[in-house]
Amino acid sequence: MKDSPNVISFLNMKGGVCKTTLCKEMALFLSEVKDRDILVIDIDPQSNCTQSFFERYNVLQIDEGELITCETNLPSIENVFSKSKGGLREIKLEDVIYELSNKLHIVPGDLNTVFMERETGTGASEQKLFNFIDQFKLQEKYDYIFIDCPPTYSFYTVSALLSSNYYLVPLKSDAYSLLGLDLLERVVTELRSLYRANFSNRPINNLGTIFTMIPKTPSKGVLRNIEQIKEAFKDKNVYFFRNDFPRADKISTGKLSTFIMDRDDAGLYEKLAEICQEFEERMANLNG
Ligand SMILES: Nc1ncnc2c1ncn2[C@@H]1O[C@H](COP(=O)(O)OP(=O)(O)OP(=O)(O)O)[C@@H](O)[C@H]1O
Ligand SMILES: [Mg+2]
Repeated sequence: MKDSPNVISFLNMKGGVCKTTLCKEMALFLSEVKDRDILVIDIDPQSNCTQSFFERYNVLQIDEGELITCETNLPSIENVFSKSKGGLREIKLEDVIYELSNKLHIVPGDLNTVFMERETGTGASEQKLFNFIDQFKLQEKYDYIFIDCPPTYSFYTVSALLSSNYYLVPLKSDAYSLLGLDLLERVVTELRSLYRANFSNRPINNLGTIFTMIPKTPSKGVLRNIEQIKEAFKDKNVYFFRNDFPRADKISTGKLSTFIMDRDDAGLYEKLAEICQEFEERMANLNG
Protein backbone atom coordinates (compact mmCIF):
# COMPACT_ATOMS: atom_id res chain seq x y z
CA MET A 1 0.00 0.00 0.00
CA LYS A 2 2.93 2.34 0.57
CA ASP A 3 3.28 5.13 -1.97
CA SER A 4 -0.25 4.54 -3.24
CA PRO A 5 -3.28 6.73 -2.50
CA ASN A 6 -3.59 5.95 1.18
CA VAL A 7 -4.76 9.08 3.02
CA ILE A 8 -8.25 8.65 4.42
CA SER A 9 -10.48 11.17 6.19
CA PHE A 10 -13.06 9.89 8.65
CA LEU A 11 -15.83 12.28 7.78
CA ASN A 12 -19.38 13.17 8.72
CA MET A 13 -20.71 16.64 9.59
CA LYS A 14 -22.89 15.00 12.19
CA GLY A 15 -21.45 14.59 15.69
CA GLY A 16 -21.31 11.38 17.67
CA VAL A 17 -21.44 8.91 14.78
CA CYS A 18 -18.23 6.97 15.68
CA LYS A 19 -15.72 8.86 13.51
CA THR A 20 -13.14 8.92 16.29
CA THR A 21 -13.98 5.46 17.58
CA LEU A 22 -13.61 3.78 14.19
CA CYS A 23 -10.50 5.79 13.35
CA LYS A 24 -8.64 4.85 16.54
CA GLU A 25 -9.88 1.23 16.72
CA MET A 26 -9.04 0.50 13.08
CA ALA A 27 -5.66 2.19 13.46
CA LEU A 28 -4.72 0.09 16.48
CA PHE A 29 -6.04 -3.15 14.98
CA LEU A 30 -4.32 -2.69 11.62
CA SER A 31 -1.00 -1.86 13.25
CA GLU A 32 -1.05 -4.55 15.95
CA VAL A 33 -2.76 -7.43 14.19
CA LYS A 34 -2.04 -6.76 10.52
CA ASP A 35 1.40 -5.30 11.06
CA ARG A 36 0.63 -2.20 9.01
CA ASP A 37 2.44 1.10 9.45
CA ILE A 38 -0.17 3.63 10.47
CA LEU A 39 -0.21 7.37 10.99
CA VAL A 40 -3.25 8.90 12.69
CA ILE A 41 -3.72 12.64 12.28
CA ASP A 42 -5.98 14.23 14.88
CA ILE A 43 -7.22 17.39 13.22
CA ASP A 44 -10.29 17.73 15.44
CA PRO A 45 -9.76 20.51 18.03
CA GLN A 46 -11.66 18.34 20.55
CA SER A 47 -8.58 16.04 20.44
CA ASN A 48 -10.55 12.97 21.57
CA CYS A 49 -8.43 10.64 19.50
CA THR A 50 -5.22 12.05 20.96
CA GLN A 51 -6.53 11.72 24.50
CA SER A 52 -7.43 8.06 23.94
CA PHE A 53 -4.06 7.12 22.53
CA PHE A 54 -2.10 9.22 25.01
CA GLU A 55 -3.90 7.57 27.92
CA ARG A 56 -3.45 4.08 26.51
CA TYR A 57 0.25 4.61 25.92
CA ASN A 58 0.76 6.42 29.25
CA VAL A 59 1.83 9.69 27.67
CA LEU A 60 -0.54 11.21 30.17
CA GLN A 61 -2.45 9.97 33.18
CA ILE A 62 -5.96 11.01 34.05
CA ASP A 63 -7.72 10.22 37.29
CA GLU A 64 -11.42 10.95 37.74
CA GLY A 65 -11.33 13.49 34.93
CA GLU A 66 -8.27 15.30 36.35
CA LEU A 67 -5.01 15.45 34.47
CA ILE A 68 -2.37 13.95 36.78
CA THR A 69 0.78 13.88 34.66
CA CYS A 70 1.64 14.60 31.09
CA GLU A 71 4.85 14.44 29.10
CA THR A 72 6.09 17.89 28.17
CA ASN A 73 7.07 19.29 24.79
CA LEU A 74 4.76 16.94 22.96
CA PRO A 75 4.60 17.18 19.20
CA SER A 76 1.41 18.66 17.83
CA ILE A 77 -0.52 19.45 14.70
CA GLU A 78 -0.34 23.08 15.81
CA ASN A 79 3.22 23.05 14.56
CA VAL A 80 2.00 22.26 11.07
CA PHE A 81 -0.43 25.14 11.06
CA SER A 82 1.51 27.79 12.97
CA LYS A 83 5.23 27.17 12.54
CA SER A 84 5.20 27.04 8.81
CA LYS A 85 4.44 30.72 8.28
CA GLY A 86 7.80 31.45 6.75
CA GLY A 87 7.91 28.29 4.66
CA LEU A 88 7.94 24.59 5.36
CA ARG A 89 11.61 24.09 5.87
CA GLU A 90 11.44 24.99 9.54
CA ILE A 91 9.10 22.14 10.54
CA LYS A 92 10.83 19.14 12.07
CA LEU A 93 9.16 15.77 12.00
CA GLU A 94 9.68 15.28 15.73
CA ASP A 95 7.74 18.50 16.41
CA VAL A 96 4.71 16.98 14.72
CA ILE A 97 4.73 13.18 14.96
CA TYR A 98 4.67 11.13 18.17
CA GLU A 99 5.60 7.46 17.96
CA LEU A 100 3.17 5.52 20.13
CA SER A 101 4.72 2.23 19.03
CA ASN A 102 6.93 1.01 16.26
CA LYS A 103 4.12 0.79 13.78
CA LEU A 104 1.62 3.30 15.13
CA HIS A 105 2.35 7.02 15.00
CA ILE A 106 0.14 10.02 15.68
CA VAL A 107 0.03 13.69 14.79
CA PRO A 108 -1.58 14.74 18.07
CA GLY A 109 -3.99 17.55 18.66
CA ASP A 110 -2.79 20.12 21.15
CA LEU A 111 -4.41 19.24 24.46
CA ASN A 112 -4.05 22.84 25.64
CA THR A 113 -6.38 24.05 22.94
CA VAL A 114 -9.19 21.64 23.67
CA PHE A 115 -11.16 24.50 25.19
CA MET A 116 -9.83 27.27 22.99
CA GLU A 117 -10.34 28.22 19.41
CA ARG A 118 -7.29 27.48 17.39
CA GLU A 119 -5.38 30.15 15.56
CA THR A 120 -6.77 30.01 12.08
CA GLY A 121 -6.11 33.63 11.11
CA THR A 122 -2.98 34.96 9.47
CA GLY A 123 -0.59 32.35 8.24
CA ALA A 124 -3.02 29.51 8.54
CA SER A 125 -3.64 27.87 5.23
CA GLU A 126 -5.80 24.93 4.35
CA GLN A 127 -2.94 23.73 2.20
CA LYS A 128 -0.43 23.25 5.02
CA LEU A 129 -1.38 19.73 6.05
CA PHE A 130 -1.12 18.55 2.46
CA ASN A 131 2.25 20.27 2.14
CA PHE A 132 3.49 18.63 5.32
CA ILE A 133 2.49 15.13 4.17
CA ASP A 134 4.01 15.79 0.78
CA GLN A 135 7.23 17.38 1.97
CA PHE A 136 8.10 14.49 4.27
CA LYS A 137 6.86 11.87 1.77
CA LEU A 138 4.65 10.39 4.48
CA GLN A 139 2.57 8.40 1.99
CA GLU A 140 5.66 6.32 1.28
CA LYS A 141 6.37 5.74 4.97
CA TYR A 142 2.96 4.49 6.01
CA ASP A 143 0.51 1.91 4.73
CA TYR A 144 -2.41 4.10 5.78
CA ILE A 145 -2.80 7.65 7.04
CA PHE A 146 -6.08 8.21 8.90
CA ILE A 147 -7.41 11.71 9.59
CA ASP A 148 -9.99 12.09 12.34
CA CYS A 149 -12.19 15.04 11.32
CA PRO A 150 -14.40 17.27 13.48
CA PRO A 151 -18.16 17.24 12.92
CA THR A 152 -18.12 20.68 11.35
CA TYR A 153 -17.53 22.16 7.96
CA SER A 154 -14.49 24.22 8.85
CA PHE A 155 -10.89 25.08 8.13
CA TYR A 156 -9.94 21.69 9.60
CA THR A 157 -12.29 19.66 7.45
CA VAL A 158 -11.12 21.45 4.32
CA SER A 159 -7.48 20.93 5.34
CA ALA A 160 -8.19 17.22 5.87
CA LEU A 161 -10.00 16.76 2.57
CA LEU A 162 -7.35 18.61 0.58
CA SER A 163 -4.86 16.11 2.00
CA SER A 164 -6.97 13.00 1.43
CA ASN A 165 -7.36 10.48 -1.36
CA TYR A 166 -10.47 8.99 0.20
CA TYR A 167 -13.17 9.77 2.73
CA LEU A 168 -14.84 7.14 4.89
CA VAL A 169 -18.26 7.95 6.32
CA PRO A 170 -19.45 6.47 9.62
CA LEU A 171 -23.24 6.79 9.60
CA LYS A 172 -25.92 6.08 12.19
CA SER A 173 -29.17 4.82 10.82
CA ASP A 174 -31.60 7.41 12.12
CA ALA A 175 -34.27 9.32 10.23
CA TYR A 176 -31.89 12.12 9.23
CA SER A 177 -29.02 9.99 7.98
CA LEU A 178 -30.21 10.05 4.41
CA LEU A 179 -30.22 13.85 4.39
CA GLY A 180 -26.86 13.92 6.15
CA LEU A 181 -25.22 11.63 3.61
CA ASP A 182 -26.72 13.63 0.77
CA LEU A 183 -25.38 16.87 2.25
CA LEU A 184 -21.95 15.33 2.69
CA GLU A 185 -21.79 14.23 -0.93
CA ARG A 186 -22.80 17.72 -2.04
CA VAL A 187 -20.14 19.32 0.16
CA VAL A 188 -17.45 17.07 -1.33
CA THR A 189 -18.70 17.83 -4.86
CA GLU A 190 -18.59 21.54 -4.08
CA LEU A 191 -15.06 21.26 -2.69
CA ARG A 192 -13.95 19.40 -5.80
CA SER A 193 -15.01 22.34 -7.95
CA LEU A 194 -13.87 25.04 -5.53
CA TYR A 195 -10.38 23.52 -5.22
CA ARG A 196 -10.11 22.31 -8.81
CA ALA A 197 -6.37 22.87 -8.97
CA ASN A 198 -5.77 20.64 -5.95
CA PHE A 199 -8.00 17.81 -7.07
CA SER A 200 -7.30 17.78 -10.81
CA ASN A 201 -4.49 15.24 -10.77
CA ARG A 202 -5.20 13.89 -7.31
CA PRO A 203 -8.91 13.18 -6.97
CA ILE A 204 -10.73 12.47 -3.72
CA ASN A 205 -13.08 9.49 -3.76
CA ASN A 206 -15.70 7.85 -1.60
CA LEU A 207 -14.19 4.88 0.22
CA GLY A 208 -17.47 3.85 1.71
CA THR A 209 -20.11 4.26 4.36
CA ILE A 210 -20.06 2.17 7.51
CA PHE A 211 -23.29 1.93 9.47
CA THR A 212 -22.55 2.44 13.15
CA MET A 213 -24.21 1.79 16.50
CA ILE A 214 -26.49 -0.83 14.99
CA PRO A 215 -28.32 -2.71 17.76
CA LYS A 216 -27.74 -6.44 18.04
CA THR A 217 -31.32 -7.03 16.98
CA PRO A 218 -32.13 -4.06 14.78
CA SER A 219 -35.73 -2.84 14.78
CA LYS A 220 -37.74 -2.80 11.55
CA GLY A 221 -37.33 0.98 11.49
CA VAL A 222 -33.53 0.73 11.56
CA LEU A 223 -33.50 -1.88 8.79
CA ARG A 224 -35.90 0.22 6.73
CA ASN A 225 -33.70 3.34 7.13
CA ILE A 226 -30.66 1.40 5.97
CA GLU A 227 -32.48 0.02 2.92
CA GLN A 228 -33.81 3.47 2.01
CA ILE A 229 -30.35 5.00 2.22
CA LYS A 230 -28.81 2.26 0.09
CA GLU A 231 -31.61 2.58 -2.45
CA ALA A 232 -31.26 6.37 -2.66
CA PHE A 233 -27.52 6.15 -3.36
CA LYS A 234 -27.40 3.06 -5.50
CA ASP A 235 -26.42 4.89 -8.70
CA LYS A 236 -24.22 7.46 -7.06
CA ASN A 237 -20.85 5.84 -6.71
CA VAL A 238 -21.22 5.44 -2.96
CA TYR A 239 -20.04 2.15 -1.48
CA PHE A 240 -21.73 0.63 1.56
CA PHE A 241 -19.74 -1.69 3.79
CA ARG A 242 -21.26 -5.17 4.21
CA ASN A 243 -20.09 -5.12 7.81
CA ASP A 244 -21.52 -2.67 10.31
CA PHE A 245 -20.17 -1.43 13.63
CA PRO A 246 -22.56 -2.63 16.33
CA ARG A 247 -23.77 -0.67 19.31
CA ALA A 248 -21.90 -1.69 22.43
CA ASP A 249 -22.70 0.35 25.51
CA LYS A 250 -19.43 -0.63 27.17
CA ILE A 251 -17.68 1.59 24.62
CA SER A 252 -19.53 4.70 25.77
CA THR A 253 -19.30 3.89 29.47
CA GLY A 254 -15.73 2.57 29.45
CA LYS A 255 -12.45 4.43 29.82
CA LEU A 256 -11.08 6.40 26.86
CA SER A 257 -7.89 4.39 27.12
CA THR A 258 -9.62 1.02 26.73
CA PHE A 259 -9.74 -0.14 23.14
CA ILE A 260 -11.69 -3.09 21.72
CA MET A 261 -8.45 -5.06 21.56
CA ASP A 262 -8.02 -4.59 25.32
CA ARG A 263 -11.47 -6.01 26.07
CA ASP A 264 -12.53 -9.54 26.59
CA ASP A 265 -15.26 -9.38 23.98
CA ALA A 266 -14.79 -11.83 21.13
CA GLY A 267 -17.93 -10.66 19.31
CA LEU A 268 -16.87 -7.02 19.16
CA TYR A 269 -13.30 -7.98 18.27
CA GLU A 270 -14.60 -10.09 15.39
CA LYS A 271 -16.74 -7.20 14.11
CA LEU A 272 -13.72 -4.87 14.13
CA ALA A 273 -11.62 -7.51 12.38
CA GLU A 274 -14.27 -7.88 9.66
CA ILE A 275 -14.49 -4.14 9.11
CA CYS A 276 -10.69 -3.90 8.81
CA GLN A 277 -10.65 -6.85 6.40
CA GLU A 278 -13.31 -5.27 4.21
CA PHE A 279 -11.50 -1.91 4.42
CA GLU A 280 -8.28 -3.45 3.13
CA GLU A 281 -10.10 -5.31 0.34
CA ARG A 282 -11.81 -2.12 -0.70
CA MET A 283 -8.51 -0.18 -0.69
CA ALA A 284 -6.82 -2.89 -2.75
CA ASN A 285 -9.73 -2.79 -5.23
CA LEU A 286 -9.72 0.97 -5.56
CA ASN A 287 -5.97 1.22 -5.90
CA GLY A 288 -5.98 -1.61 -8.43
N1 LIG B 1 -20.26 1.06 19.04
C1 LIG B 1 -20.61 1.93 19.98
N2 LIG B 1 -21.64 1.67 20.79
C2 LIG B 1 -22.03 2.58 21.73
N3 LIG B 1 -21.42 3.75 21.96
C3 LIG B 1 -20.37 4.05 21.16
C4 LIG B 1 -19.91 3.16 20.14
N4 LIG B 1 -18.85 3.73 19.53
C5 LIG B 1 -18.66 4.92 20.13
N5 LIG B 1 -19.55 5.12 21.12
C6 LIG B 1 -19.66 6.30 21.98
O1 LIG B 1 -20.41 7.29 21.28
C7 LIG B 1 -19.86 8.58 21.48
C8 LIG B 1 -19.50 9.20 20.15
O2 LIG B 1 -18.49 8.43 19.52
P1 LIG B 1 -17.30 9.12 18.75
O3 LIG B 1 -16.60 10.09 19.63
O4 LIG B 1 -16.50 8.06 18.12
O5 LIG B 1 -18.11 9.91 17.63
P2 LIG B 1 -17.59 11.08 16.68
O6 LIG B 1 -18.33 10.94 15.41
O7 LIG B 1 -16.12 11.08 16.60
O8 LIG B 1 -18.08 12.37 17.47
P3 LIG B 1 -17.65 13.90 17.19
O9 LIG B 1 -18.42 14.30 15.99
O10 LIG B 1 -18.05 14.64 18.42
O11 LIG B 1 -16.18 13.92 16.94
C9 LIG B 1 -18.68 8.40 22.41
O12 LIG B 1 -19.09 8.66 23.72
C10 LIG B 1 -18.32 6.94 22.24
O13 LIG B 1 -17.72 6.40 23.41
MG1 LIG C 1 -14.74 12.61 16.97
